[in-house]
Amino acid sequence: MSSQSANTSLLTPYQMGKFHLSHRVVLAPLTRQRSYGNVPQPHAILYYSQRASNGGLLITEATGVSDTAQGYPYTPGIWTKEQVEAWKPIVDAVHAKGGLFFCQIWHVGRVSNEGFQPDGQAPISCTDKPLTPQIRANGIDTAQFSPPRRLRTDEIPLVVNDFRLAARNAMEAGFDGVEIHGANGYLIEQFMKDKVNDRTDEYGGSLENRCRFALEIVEAIVKEIGADRVGFRISPFANYMESEDSNPKALGLYMAESLSKHGILYCHAIEPRMIKVGEKKECSDSLLPMRKAFTGTFIAAGGYDREDGDKAVMKGHADLVAFGRLFLANPDLPKRFELNAPLNKYHRDTFYISDPVVGYTDYPFLEEAM
Ligand code: FNR
Repeated sequence: MSSQSANTSLLTPYQMGKFHLSHRVVLAPLTRQRSYGNVPQPHAILYYSQRASNGGLLITEATGVSDTAQGYPYTPGIWTKEQVEAWKPIVDAVHAKGGLFFCQIWHVGRVSNEGFQPDGQAPISCTDKPLTPQIRANGIDTAQFSPPRRLRTDEIPLVVNDFRLAARNAMEAGFDGVEIHGANGYLIEQFMKDKVNDRTDEYGGSLENRCRFALEIVEAIVKEIGADRVGFRISPFANYMESEDSNPKALGLYMAESLSKHGILYCHAIEPRMIKVGEKKECSDSLLPMRKAFTGTFIAAGGYDREDGDKAVMKGHADLVAFGRLFLANPDLPKRFELNAPLNKYHRDTFYISDPVVGYTDYPFLEEAM
């Protein structure tokens, strides 16, 4: 570390379980929709290795656990041999730079339509309540969602098993661990949130019942790859994809306590301020009860910059801070934070285009920008 690193606690080392991190600036999971045919492509080697640093933690874009897990074009999966093989050189490239790499494993549930589903079937969910059509991120197209099919109780273990197999595949591909995507209105969160989950079996109703699916996935994956390689992402306060909960504090706390009981490596929580458009709170303390209840590493995300990420670490509100849009646009973000250098601006209109270069690997490094 250079002497300038003392300027920000984000640049101090941290021991996350058995993994030694040289700084606390994490690449947040970011869907980029450049995996043609649901297979990660060689251009992802450059994209992720650009963002890798010695002792820095990267999390992959959301990666499907099965052929029913998809709801967006060109998102990667990790359920076939071909996909596992395609991830290997990407993982190797991150490791070659000394980086740590976790694979975010994902099922979209009802955030899908028949066009993405095998044999044009209905997407699966905890419910049969459909989502209303939504304007896509490009501000032009409308995403259409098919009415989902409510999973029967006896089918739920099969989906849990898909997550377990995806975690096993991630180990086969060489990842250091997996992050279970329990956030942002996708399948796991559909089960957790009471505005979506209208089940009457043991997977619906009480808080414990609604979290059962999530925790069965955690348990299965812990058994498969070990608790010291498992993270969980959660967004109790968000209402993304119509996934509201009437008591997000209780949900967050219950999950933090339960994840602790499973002894998993990290809990990755998204700040409630993400839902408050145009408002930016300083070091929001709404995640604090979860932070205190969770005994492993706590990662915070959502609207952070260098200054308030630094404060979050300094005040002990988070061990690590994940950066999404800033890291997307600044491949050398930890370096720029270290030097307190100016940042590239991100371009929202290229977040989700399928181009293998534009808006993907062409954001300049510091020395190129100056
Ligand atoms: C996201 N986000 C996201 N979250 C997640 O858990 N899995 C994913 O695949 C994605 N994909 C994704 C793509 C893009 C282009 C954006 C901008 C965001 C959410 C992301 O991880 C993060 O929580 C938010 O971006 C908020 O953090 P920042 O951007 O304010 O640092």
